[in-house]
This record gives sequence, structure tokens and C-alpha cells, in this order.
Amino acid sequence: MQLIIFKDYNALSQQAANEIISLVKHKPDAVLCLPSGSTPLLTCQLLVQKAKAENVDFSSCTFIGLDEWVGIPPDNEGSCAFFFRNEVFKHLHFSASHIHLFNALSENLAQECAAMDSVIFENGGIDLMLVGVGMNGHIGFNEPGISFDLYSHIAPLDETTTAVGQKYFKEATELSQGITLGLKHLLESKKVLLLANGNKKAAIIQKALEGEITNALPASIIRQHSNSIVMIDEEAAVMLT
Ligand code: GLP
Repeated sequence: MQLIIFKDYNALSQQAANEIISLVKHKPDAVLCLPSGSTPLLTCQLLVQKAKAENVDFSSCTFIGLDEWVGIPPDNEGSCAFFFRNEVFKHLHFSASHIHLFNALSENLAQECAAMDSVIFENGGIDLMLVGVGMNGHIGFNEPGISFDLYSHIAPLDETTTAVGQKYFKEATELSQGITLGLKHLLESKKVLLLANGNKKAAIIQKALEGEITNALPASIIRQHSNSIVMIDEEAAVMLT
């Protein structure tokens, strides 16, 4: 694991977008996994700008959505699908058949998980996985206590997640389960970038990077990956010794 501390959110997001651009230039059929949320927002916006300026073609790439709120339809502005559509697919041309998002309305969520795992294996694994970190140290919806040995699965959501998650929705929304890639996918990805910015993430980043590596704090798993980069801004780094 490598740690890079950037001056601010903009510098961090520039570098994250550059990482994606450079991968796709070298491997046009790369398998990319992106999260939604506040953290990757500027990365996505810069990615769109850079891809247009440098004529980078995403049409052969495979896109994997990290997670989704169970029961929330894709046209709800708080859903991960809504974020991906507005921030990524509206601007970059991915082939529709190469976009793989969890259908959180499915009556057979176990099948959704199995289908996502198959897509990842059949495409040779994830080349680049970007993740954020939740206020409780989760990655995707891998909540505290989750096994490091799981692929895609359904997860009961932690109280912190259901409370913090309200920020994505226009009105109070009942959230109880998530569907998510597992930490085994993260460990098997060829490269992982974990992004965090702002003072509010400082305490969880300190625990993840300087505490014990434990499933009680899922983000600590990043230290077990040999090709991972933790990219944080100075505010998120203030508690690091
Ligand atoms: C959310 C999502 C994660 C996301 C994390 C951080 O609940 N399940 O995929 O990375 O929490 O979100 P944010 O970037 O908005 O702080």
C-alpha cells in the first residue's frame, strides 16, 4: 500500500482521474469499478473533461458499479445508478452491454450477486477499483464485522450508514439493506485506489491506516493489497501520526 497526501480535494481528484485515463489509454478494454457518493464526484467530473480533451474512448471498457441501496429505483436521485448515469454515462460513451450495475429492485438479489461475480470473472477481473470510505469505515456496503472473504452479497446496513446515507436523498428514505461487491473482489483487483477527503474522514482514516487490520474496520483491508494507493487530502490526513 502506498499513501499519497494531496494539498486538497481538487489535487486528489485530478490524480484519481489521471489514473483512470492512463489505464484506459494503455488498456482500452479495461474493467473499471467505481463508487458513487460525494468523494468520487469531482473525480468523475474531471474524468469527463480529460477524456474529452484527450479523446479517450471508453466504448470497449467494462463498467462495474460498486454497490446499490436495496429497494431504491435507479431513477431516484439518491441511488448509485442515478449518480453513475448523470456523472459518467451521460458524458462518456460506454457500450450499454458493458455497463454492469446491481438491480436493487430484483426479486432475486442472490442471482444479482452471482451475475455480477460472473461478469467480473469472465472479463478477467477488475483492473482498477476506486472506493470511498464510509464514516464507519465501510467500503461499498461492506459494513463493520463483514468477512474479508466474500464476493458480491446483500448486506444489512449499519445505523451510521442509514443515517449518513440520507444526505443523498431529497426526502427521508428508509434504507435497510445494500447490495455490494465484496472485499474479496477488492483484494483480487489488480489495482485499488481508496479516496477520502475532508476533516470528517480524518478519524476513520487514522484508524484504517494506523490501527489494527480488522474486519471491525473494513477499510483497513486496503493495507493487505500490494497494489493499492490511499489518496487523501491534507484535511483527511490531520490525525495521522
Ligand atoms: C456510501 C457508499 C460507499 C461510499 C461511502 C462514502 O454509503 N456505500 O460506496 O464510498 O459510503 O460515501 P461518501 O463519498 O459520500 O462520503
